[in-house]
Amino acid sequence: MSTTAVRLRPASPRTRLIAAPPDQLGAVAAVVVADFVRAQPNGVLGIATGASPMSLYRGLAAHRLAGLATEGLTLCALDEYVGIAPDDPRSYRSYVLKNVAGPLGIPAERVHLPGEVDDYDQLIASLGGVGLQIVGIGGNGHIGFNEPGSALESSTRVVELTAETRQANARYFGGDPAAVPQQAMTQGIRTICNAAGIVMVASGAAKAQALVAALTGPVTSQVPASALQLHPAVTVVADAAALGEE
Ligand code: PGA
Repeated sequence: MSTTAVRLRPASPRTRLIAAPPDQLGAVAAVVVADFVRAQPNGVLGIATGASPMSLYRGLAAHRLAGLATEGLTLCALDEYVGIAPDDPRSYRSYVLKNVAGPLGIPAERVHLPGEVDDYDQLIASLGGVGLQIVGIGGNGHIGFNEPGSALESSTRVVELTAETRQANARYFGGDPAAVPQQAMTQGIRTICNAAGIVMVASGAAKAQALVAALTGPVTSQVPASALQLHPAVTVVADAAALGEE
């Protein structure tokens, strides 16, 4: 596993930036998560869906095979579509069960998604809060489904998905953006920032503009991920393309 040099300097001194080759991103990020699991084997891990964290989840499963006890974790997802049945293979519940809970040996009873309870933020609080939240970043700077313009103080709520996000996710809906739900339930920006630690994974040039703005630009609701500058313990694992460095 290797990391690479990085020129970009995050505006927040509390943001740790690790650059890694694209094929090593997941393994590098998995080490960060494995350290958390070792410290809090019964802790709450916040789960992002999408393509970016897939290699991270494979990396974590490899840690489990090597002896890391992941079975005691509780999983809280960032978001879920509105109008997609929980057992639909395109639901984020299905994603979390298949790609995270299953490989990590976590029973479905300890897998939670927004929309399943009236007050998700209260559920998270009752579990003791998220110990480590995994996030990706949208090409438009969103975290979870907090699209540009989302209040930095937002809590879990139903949101309208932007045309850009529906286009980006069309690949899971037969390539048809119109088939992507118009709404989702997402943890708010404040909900995400309430996690004790956050690890962001980002790869590819399509993320560069948003990621550079989030790390080095002003904190603004126009770039929801910029809110992470206000968080005390963020690790960003990105490849050179996502950092605009190639
Ligand atoms: P992706 O999505 O990992 O599928 O690129 C990230 C996001 O939209 O947050």
